[in-house]
Amino acid sequence: MVVWERIRRDFPVLGQLYDGKSLIYFDSACMALKPVQVWEAMEYYYKYLGACGGAGRSTHSLGSETSMLTEDARNKMASFINAESPNEIIWTRNATEGLNLVAATIPLSKDENVVTTTLEHHSGMLPFYKRCKETGSELRLVEAKEDGTLDPADFEEKIDDKTKIVSFVHASNLTGTVAPLEEVIKIAHEHDALVVSDEAQFAPHQKLDVRDIDVDFCVLSVHKACGPTGIGVLYGKYDLLKKLDMYMVGGDVIEDVVYEGGEVIPKYLPPPHKFEAGLQNYGGMLGAGAAVDYLQEIGMKNVHNREQTFSRKLLEGILELEKFEVLGPLDYKQRAALVSFRPESDAVNHLDITEYFNEMIPNYKILMRSGNMCVHPFQYQIGINPGKGEGVVRASLYIYNTMNEIDIFLTELENFAKVID
Ligand SMILES: Cc1ncc(COP(=O)(O)O)c(C=O)c1O
Repeated sequence: MVVWERIRRDFPVLGQLYDGKSLIYFDSACMALKPVQVWEAMEYYYKYLGACGGAGRSTHSLGSETSMLTEDARNKMASFINAESPNEIIWTRNATEGLNLVAATIPLSKDENVVTTTLEHHSGMLPFYKRCKETGSELRLVEAKEDGTLDPADFEEKIDDKTKIVSFVHASNLTGTVAPLEEVIKIAHEHDALVVSDEAQFAPHQKLDVRDIDVDFCVLSVHKACGPTGIGVLYGKYDLLKKLDMYMVGGDVIEDVVYEGGEVIPKYLPPPHKFEAGLQNYGGMLGAGAAVDYLQEIGMKNVHNREQTFSRKLLEGILELEKFEVLGPLDYKQRAALVSFRPESDAVNHLDITEYFNEMIPNYKILMRSGNMCVHPFQYQIGINPGKGEGVVRASLYIYNTMNEIDIFLTELENFAKVID
């Protein structure tokens, strides 16, 4: 049985009084807090190693141990998502870099198209937009429904035999929508298209089994999964990774750089090192390994079950007030653990709400994000104009939150709604 009070104690940020107030952290969809175990793993690197890793580099004791521990972290990440081999795990700076990497390196020609959705985070949308502009390929957009859901039939309509890539967000950071991933993957594969899924908001909260869903590439954001900042993961099926073009080149990605007949001839390493140019974030890798160990120990099923109970309460509590428009599906079972909402009244806007909850509540600071969550296209689609400063407030949950925090939030939101009436 998971002792959730003990889990919470692993996050000292939550034990402090900030400006004399207790913190209620409802911003984990932006960045999750980090448990002691993660910084201890990183501290070990910085305190006792501090050297460079990587095959064939510094073979002294500190370098060898760094290489051994970082490859161990790669193994842990592979097991976290059930990849067939650790060689399918590429360390990136974040999910954004992974998406840029695949968008730039999957061979794509003018007569082919890329299918994505209006619900994408800009990090999932713009790399493919940019590549299509460069190649002259068509970017086809599946429009999410008004309630933020994605319909497989709409993918079926857009995907054809000229579709090279289908890329979409598995769990939306704006609406909480969980995409019909398996159906879309099946449709894409029937047309021999490659599927890229953005797992930044899914993998930290639910079990992701890349082999079971048969996705070709996906990205993870380690800082949203209790891990350190500045590190992410790109997963790809090994045979497909081998076929991608080079991305960043330089040191550490080469087997040899021959100089012959006045010419330079590089011979590149196979994946994953093919994509990890230059010295890496070794401390971050150790932190990432510790983060997924931490989540695995809790059990992803336990994480998901608890979050679903909490997000149901949060969603239904906000809806009951009848003062706020909620984005995304209204059935908690179809959602990730976050709720984006905005006041129906014009008297206040999203920024007023987050400021009020940060500053004005007695005894607590309730920390939420306001704005557009880097998903402008879908907001334009449903009539919210980011260009005019319109936006939403997002409350997002994770393993350290409690039902009591949700109760406090809902009481305060009700008080706030009375004030703006
Ligand atoms: C759905 C989604 N995709 C991609 C990203 C980008 O993640 P990263 O910060 O790791 O680049 C985010 C971050 O908020 C996200 O929510």
